[in-house]
Amino acid sequence: MSEPCVCAELQENPQAQFNLLHQIIQDYEKRESNLIQILHLAQALFGYLSEDVLHFIGEEMDLPLSKVHGVVSFYSYFETQPHGRHTIQVCLGTACYVRGGTKVLDNLKKALEIDIGETSSDGRFTLAVKRCFGSCGLAPAISIDAVVHKRVNPNQLQDILNQYP
Ligand code: FES
Repeated sequence: MSEPCVCAELQENPQAQFNLLHQIIQDYEKRESNLIQILHLAQALFGYLSEDVLHFIGEEMDLPLSKVHGVVSFYSYFETQPHGRHTIQVCLGTACYVRGGTKVLDNLKKALEIDIGETSSDGRFTLAVKRCFGSCGLAPAISIDAVVHKRVNPNQLQDILNQYP
């Protein structure tokens, strides 16, 4: 019989996550050149790099927090905010832009009370923009997770959002 996966258990136990991060840093040695790799692993472990995680890494690696912050802010793939359960991407490619993509984006910002790159307070949605899903003939388009919604009516976005608990 195979071992049960420990990931879910780990996610509900921050102390266990920090213990594992401590072990990762020990395994990599406290060298500044390993910082990026350790940040990647920390993001995979926690889902995003909170201030607590950045503090912990700085202290464990004997690096100033400003150094850790500098690396995190330089690379766009590091995330310092938790992700929502669903990711909305609003297409702002040429066809969607011309056919009301910005109105869709503005209305989503208002409905969710967030800006691009942010997550709604209920943790449901993270908002992003993208250039072209290849559905230009049916613009404007948005995607939510893996589903592309086409010919989106900017005044009926709630109907779409309601499909995602
Ligand atoms: S420009 Fe939006 S799908 Fe192509």
